[in-house]
Amino acid sequence: MEIVIHDSPQRLGEVAADAIAALLAADPTAVLGLATGSSPRPVYDALAARCERGEVSFAQARAFTLDEYVGLPADHPERYRNVIDADFVSRVDFAPGAVQGPDGLATDIPAACAEYEAAIVAAGGVDLQILGIGTDGHIAFNEPGSSLASRTRIKTLTRQTRLDNARFFDGDPQAVPQHCLTQGLATIMAARHIVLLATGRGKAEAVHHLAEGAVSAMWPATILQHHPHVSVLLDSAAASRL
Ligand code: GLP
Repeated sequence: MEIVIHDSPQRLGEVAADAIAALLAADPTAVLGLATGSSPRPVYDALAARCERGEVSFAQARAFTLDEYVGLPADHPERYRNVIDADFVSRVDFAPGAVQGPDGLATDIPAACAEYEAAIVAAGGVDLQILGIGTDGHIAFNEPGSSLASRTRIKTLTRQTRLDNARFFDGDPQAVPQHCLTQGLATIMAARHIVLLATGRGKAEAVHHLAEGAVSAMWPATILQHHPHVSVLLDSAAASRL
């Protein structure tokens, strides 16, 4: 596990953008894994600026998102698909249909999850996965207690995550959906390179477990200790318990 500490979120975003730009230079058809949340935003800002300057292109690339709330209407601004479109996809030159996400409005949820897993495999797997981390150590929406061998499935959000995410729902935890679809821990582990970003003191305990804790389903991000190529990009507050 490679750990990079820098206090400028912009600088951390540039480090991740460098890795993605190098990947796309070597293989313009590369498959990216996209994460929603505030932590990856500097990466998307850096990539959008580089795309605008003609330094990087996503025209032949593909991408898969990590997770989605169940039941939010298609036009809801906090539906993760709409968030990632606004934060990143609409700002660069992906071809139509090149970015896929789990369908939180599917009527047959197990079938939709299996189809999503199959689509990732059919695309050749994810070359580089961007990740954030929850304060309770979740990655994507794999909450504490998630099977370390899990694949895309429906999960119930914890009280802590609904409290954390209430800021996107007018501060009301009750407005945060109770369920989500999420790539599993084994799905994420199949990515060839994982770039995790965490900033702020609120992430320090989770980062401590991620890097130095025992591998445990109670701190799901600890599974990344078994991955051969993980880059962890932190500010000093998030790194303060290392
Ligand atoms: C959500 C998402 C995760 C994300 C986490 C942290 O729960 N499902 O993918 O990593 O929040 O978000 P943030 O980066 O905004 O702190």
